[in-house]
Amino acid sequence: MSQLLPQQQLTQFINGFWVTQAVHVAARLGIADQLVAGPLSAEELASRTGAHAPSLCRLLRALASLGIFRADDAGQIHLTPLAELLRSDHPTSLRPMALMRGDFQYKAWGELTGCVQTGQSGFEHLFQQPMFDWLAANPEAGVLFDAAMQSIHGRESTQLVDAYDFSACETIIDIGGGNGSFLTSILKRNPAAKGVLFDLPAVISRARSADHVKEFADRLVLQEGSFFEQVPSGGDAYLMRHIIHDWNDEQSFLILSNIRRAMRETAVLLIAEFVIPEGNEPFVGKWFDLAMLVGPGGLERTEKEYKSLLERAGFRLEIIHPTCSEISLVEARPAPV
Ligand SMILES: C[S@@+](CC[C@H](N)C(=O)[O-])C[C@H]1O[C@@H](n2cnc3c(N)ncnc32)[C@H](O)[C@@H]1O
Repeated sequence: MSQLLPQQQLTQFINGFWVTQAVHVAARLGIADQLVAGPLSAEELASRTGAHAPSLCRLLRALASLGIFRADDAGQIHLTPLAELLRSDHPTSLRPMALMRGDFQYKAWGELTGCVQTGQSGFEHLFQQPMFDWLAANPEAGVLFDAAMQSIHGRESTQLVDAYDFSACETIIDIGGGNGSFLTSILKRNPAAKGVLFDLPAVISRARSADHVKEFADRLVLQEGSFFEQVPSGGDAYLMRHIIHDWNDEQSFLILSNIRRAMRETAVLLIAEFVIPEGNEPFVGKWFDLAMLVGPGGLERTEKEYKSLLERAGFRLEIIHPTCSEISLVEARPAPV
């Protein structure tokens, strides 16, 4: 990238949406799944996926130029390491992410100008409903969102479990825990711990049938509710991974105050988020921050912003645990009154 002329570099940035959509279409047609048993011609792929063969051929040629799929001299299309990640059955599949980014999130990003002009969520403007209400009302999109969370944040689970010692926690409550994959990773590493997975009713009902949740049936309670009303009490640790970033300061204050009320004085609050560094350095959280503006209407925060939000809600920021990636674990405890 650094060898490109400024003209070329900016042109690549401007054209970024071409790639988003091309990968999205390949994911949507399930091209990678068709190639698991071996290479196929573009014509065969088109007939299996209901596509227009010459156009699919052009799509695959463009993607192959980025290393996503590869055509051999005989015109057979092969999987590549990048294309493998679009398989539905890949353990760290990015297919749900590609499906979601190119679909309703793509449409919401088309509203970015309005977001920057007004500070309001583009998603809400476009769909006339807050994002999580819309997901609850559209179960197909809700299923995709849960899977995309796993696709986007799944690899963080091990990094977070490596970064924090949960062995002193008997009961761990994951607030907005989604499909439970983070909580079950912690339970796996800490055989004496019990977990409570707390989320909205539709999400909990989907989590109930997930294999990784069933595996921990004897140590995991699933509880539905809204963190704007109340959260379960009795935890030694309260987790929130990518929750606070979905909400503005007033909404986050409400969530944190509800947790503070439910929490024992000895319990710990662990917030897994991108903590935005000062300065101009590249940091993926700066892009997630825009995604939060466009989608749920929230924001990623700096250390200073977390400190002041937590203090307002009756917590003391103790320490920020780094992980081997850009995600951090913000540890807070109830402030003495
Ligand atoms: C960005 S996802 C993060 C999911 C999960 N913590 C993870 O890291 O994969 C946000 C989660 O907050 C949940 N959520 C949104 N509004 C909620 C509410 N009012 N009460 C409880 N959970 C809520 C969503 O259903 C979703 O599972």
